[in-house]
Amino acid sequence: MHVPHRQTELVKINPENIDQKMIKHLAEIVRAGGVVAFPTETVYGLGANAFDALAIRKIFQAKGRPADNPLIVHISDMDMMAQVTAQVPEKAQKLIAAFWPGPLTIVLPKSPKIPGEVTAGLDTVGIRMPDHNVALALIAAAGVPIAAPSANISGKPSTTSAKHVAQDLAGKVEAIIDGGQTKVGLESTVIDLTTEIPTVLRPGGISIEELERVLGEIKYDLNLLNPEQAPRSPGMKYTHYAPDAELFVVEGELVKSQAKIKELADLYRLQGKKVAILASDETANYYNDHEIISVGSRKNLNQVAAKLFDTLRKFDERGIEVIISEGFATKGIGVALMNRLRKAAGFHIIKV
Ligand code: TXA
Ligand code: MG
Repeated sequence: MHVPHRQTELVKINPENIDQKMIKHLAEIVRAGGVVAFPTETVYGLGANAFDALAIRKIFQAKGRPADNPLIVHISDMDMMAQVTAQVPEKAQKLIAAFWPGPLTIVLPKSPKIPGEVTAGLDTVGIRMPDHNVALALIAAAGVPIAAPSANISGKPSTTSAKHVAQDLAGKVEAIIDGGQTKVGLESTVIDLTTEIPTVLRPGGISIEELERVLGEIKYDLNLLNPEQAPRSPGMKYTHYAPDAELFVVEGELVKSQAKIKELADLYRLQGKKVAILASDETANYYNDHEIISVGSRKNLNQVAAKLFDTLRKFDERGIEVIISEGFATKGIGVALMNRLRKAAGFHIIKV
């Protein structure tokens, strides 16, 4: 598809000291039907006026995103909620009280004001109030909810810095706001409240344990566990988060994994490939003569999650052809972390 060239404004905004004049200017771009990339606490988003079907189409064009994958609508206050969905059931109210603003997207019946372009024709809409001063200021100044997918070329790792947004989208969007490195580093958890028992469609920044504490029983979309089946969250079926390099994940007991990783790295190097290992602070020394990038300490999975997408892009920047990665514990944020890593690997998983 042809994407018209656009002059992209790069604007720095300090989240601790918001430049309101600049925000007003960027909000005008949104109101005029433009596309603006902005920071959230999870990853960068690629935003447009959620009521403007033409502006929404520009998002899909810029990303090369399949039209059947719905966007999340971002709001800055509860008054906006009423323009996006007709009713807010009790379970939603509980989640909102516990986790908003924050990395949780709630799927509810959509208001007729939201065009089908946003929801990919579904009669439900994913809604979230981000926990980021720049995102909240932009939405409030625009005075309309902002629909935004992650700000990356479709299929690539999501972006956690403005530099990475620019790598993917400069020349394709009206503006990119640089608000620094994002804190969570993985996308929001998506929970569907239109099913009798709430269903988690995508693990993310809010853990399953945290959700259960507030809601009691929840279901986990079975397709998240079994990649062979068609997932209910349309976005989950595509190649996702993939670096240019071929990526393998070795999972299992750590000592055994390390030996397997070394063996594979040696093998690919013998084949003449440029190989590197995605390791952790605790294991980095083990792989001695191989190139490694550490994603941080295994004792702090939040930090590992925050660095994952950034690290995957680093391998590409270094021209690596084959990445071999360690696995991480699937507890708390680790569930989302391993979901992204396995998908980035196109399910090339080696169990030891
Ligand atoms: O943290 C995030 O969620 C980031 C920031 C920018 O907010 N956004 C993000 O958007 O990750 P995106 O478009 O990359 O992923 C949205 C996910 C997709 O898996 C999509 O299928 C799902 O949410 N989704 C959106 N609306 C939905 C709906 N009505 N029903 C089911 N799934 C929905
Ligand atoms: Mg995305």
